[in-house]
Amino acid sequence: MTPETHTGLQSPRGVWWKPAHKAEKVWVAIAFGWCMVLFAMMPLWHLKGGQNPSGIRRKVDPEAFFQRTQEFIAQYQIGDDRGMPIVAPPAGSDVYLTAMAFQWTPILQLEKDKEYVLHLSSRDVNHGFSLYPLNINFQVVPGYDYGLRVKPTEAGDFRIICNEFCGIGHHIMVGRVIVLDGAPQAATAETAVVAGGDR
Ligand code: CUA
Repeated sequence: MTPETHTGLQSPRGVWWKPAHKAEKVWVAIAFGWCMVLFAMMPLWHLKGGQNPSGIRRKVDPEAFFQRTQEFIAQYQIGDDRGMPIVAPPAGSDVYLTAMAFQWTPILQLEKDKEYVLHLSSRDVNHGFSLYPLNINFQVVPGYDYGLRVKPTEAGDFRIICNEFCGIGHHIMVGRVIVLDGAPQAATAETAVVAGGDR
């Protein structure tokens, strides 16, 4: 047996059994300290982060929620974009949005700086509500009605991307939210069709 061969019965060569260098101890201390900071941030962010849903959450039958969405559509529909209804609810009202494979029903037309209660739920499986290009994300779970108090602060034509893999059509599951700046006189079927030009 040559001296270079290590069988596991011999001690490996090196100095690992000697006390660690001061610099190494300092780095271990820094790393541990940082771990503690991140650990503390978890509960802290939960309480102080301001990213928690601001509304109600209650159980709901998925099909009942979908029916409620249909009623909401019938009540406030102003047009459609290739068959998908465009709905313009009055400011301050309850707004219903159903996620299902593979669409967001309906298209919402809201007013800037007006408050709404956005009811979100799924008709089938988990979906992810992601308002593009803003950084707003929300899990949409079947059986739960999430009533979020929302106030659009920016006018524009936004997309809702599904960010939770939900099946073969996940990548085409795109919805729309139109936010108008000011009075809803633009809320005519004609304007809605123009606004629906590109998706
Ligand atoms: Cu719905 Cu992915």
